[in-house]
Amino acid sequence: MKRFAVLLIIIFGVLALAGCGARSEDGAGKNDAGQKEKMVVKFSHVVAENTPKGTACIMFEELAEKYTDGKVDVQVFPNSQLYNDDEVLAAVQQNNVQLAAPATSKVSKLFTEWTIFDFPFAFMDEAAVQAAMESEAIGGKLFGMLKEQQLLGLAMWDNGFKQMSLDVHPLYLPEDFQGQKFRVMSSKVLEAQFDALGGNPVPMPFSEVYSALEQGVIDGQENTLSNIYSKKFHEVQKYMTISNHGYLGYAVITNAEFWEGLDPDVRAGLEKALNETTQWVRDNAARLNQESLDKINADGTLEEIHELTPEQKEKWVEATDIVYDQFKDEVGEDLIKAIKDLRK
Ligand code: LMR
Repeated sequence: MKRFAVLLIIIFGVLALAGCGARSEDGAGKNDAGQKEKMVVKFSHVVAENTPKGTACIMFEELAEKYTDGKVDVQVFPNSQLYNDDEVLAAVQQNNVQLAAPATSKVSKLFTEWTIFDFPFAFMDEAAVQAAMESEAIGGKLFGMLKEQQLLGLAMWDNGFKQMSLDVHPLYLPEDFQGQKFRVMSSKVLEAQFDALGGNPVPMPFSEVYSALEQGVIDGQENTLSNIYSKKFHEVQKYMTISNHGYLGYAVITNAEFWEGLDPDVRAGLEKALNETTQWVRDNAARLNQESLDKINADGTLEEIHELTPEQKEKWVEATDIVYDQFKDEVGEDLIKAIKDLRK
C-alpha cells in the first residue's frame, strides 16, 4: 500500500511537470512566482555554429529577445540536434518548431520551382541572387507558393558559392567526374548537374556526409567553404576545386498560422531582429567563407586546392548547360527564362 502511494506521488509529480512545460511553450500561462511566462520559439538547423547560418541564428536569438522585451525565449538547435534535412519542413508545418532555414534546394522537395537556385553557374555573385529574390517574377512567385503548405517565407539568408571536393583525383575537367559518387542535397537539379558532368549523384542529409566520406560510401561532395571547414570534410578528402559553380542560400521559414497569430508587438520585434540579422548575413557570409578557406589552407590536410581556370570553367558551363532544358516543363519556362536573363 505504501509502495502504491509512493507510485501515485511520482506519477502526479511527472504529470505536473509536463503540464508546466506545455504552458510555458504556448506562452499563455504564468509560472509559480506569478510572472508571465516567456513564449518559446524554437529554431532548428543542420549546420555548425561557426558558419553564416549558425552565427546568424545566434544573433537572431539575442536580438529577438531584446526587441520583444524578453517576452520571447528563442531556442536555437544547431547540427541537426532536433531535426535533419528530411524532417524539418514537416516539423514547421506541424508547429513543432517555429523557425527553420533550410537550403533552398531542400524546399524544392515541396515545391520543384525552388530548385532554380541550384542551376549550375546561374548566378555571377550574391548581388544577382538578391536581385532574383527581390523580383516579382522569381522571389514573389517562390515566396507566394509557400502559403499553400501552411508555410511563410520571412527572409533569404546567404551562405555563398559551392566548391567541389573529391578523394580520388583533382577535378579539372568534366571527364574527371566520370563514375565518381558525389553527395547531393535533395534536389533533382543537383542530381542532373552531376549526371551532366558524368558523375553519380547520391542524395543524402547533411548530417550523414562526413561519415559517408570517411567510409568511402561517396567519393566527393559539393558545399560552401564554411560548411566544408566546420564539418571537417577537408580532412576526409584529398582534392578541392574552387569552382563557384552553384549557389547555396537559405529560406527562413515559419508556420503561417503561428506567425499570423502572434501578438503584433511581438511579431514586430521578431521582424526587426530578422531584418538586422539578414543584413548582417548579407554583409558577412562571404568573409566567413574566405576565413574558412584560409583555415583549410592552414590545416594542410588537402593535397591540392585548385582554382578553376577560365578555360576549364567554360568546359564545365558547356557540359552542364543541358540541365536548363531538362527542367523547362517541371520548373516552368518563365522561371528558367528569368534565371537565364540574370546571367546576361
Ligand atoms: C547541405 O545540406 O549541404 C546544406 O544545406 C547545409 C546547410 O544548411 O548549409
